[in-house]
Amino acid sequence: MKPYGMLAAAFIVVLTPALLGAGGQSSSSGGANDFNAYCASCHGSTAKGDGPIASSFRRRPADLTKLAQRNNGVYPSDMVFKTIDGKTPVSGHGGPDMPTWGDVFSKSSESSTAEAVRLRIDSLVKYLETLQDKK
Ligand code: HEC
Repeated sequence: MKPYGMLAAAFIVVLTPALLGAGGQSSSSGGANDFNAYCASCHGSTAKGDGPIASSFRRRPADLTKLAQRNNGVYPSDMVFKTIDGKTPVSGHGGPDMPTWGDVFSKSSESSTAEAVRLRIDSLVKYLETLQDKK
């Protein structure tokens, strides 16, 4: 298999249980739940970019605890939202290995409307904000 085939295979293995098993979460803890279900495999459970399959990527998943630090101490919520959603390319952020979650979530039964998808990404953005490294 070519490297990208391997990646796609890893991706399916990681995503399928997450999509099938993530039913019935409340919106208040949605950000944390969604992060663990959809993001931790690559970005790590502490968001530091060291998830179990991180090393299989040519470009390592970003350390999501340094987003504010790398943006002069200001958490870039707009960039984070767009990067997760994936519909508007953000220069220097995301890339071929970063899934476009706007599409993934819109196919999930828990967020079938555009508004539900937006709320879901929004709680991820807020959850990531709580993980920012303050130093
Ligand atoms: C299949 C692995 C994978 C999964 C799952 C994944 N990401 Fe990523 N993500 C990446 C990679 C790889 C990058 C770095 C892409 C690049 O720099 O080209 C990235 C980059 C990002 C960035 C941009 C950070 C920056 O400073 O540029 C954000 C924000 C992000 N991911 C959030 C998330 C969130 C939230 C989730 C869960 C909904 C998630 N990611 C799930 C692989 C993944």
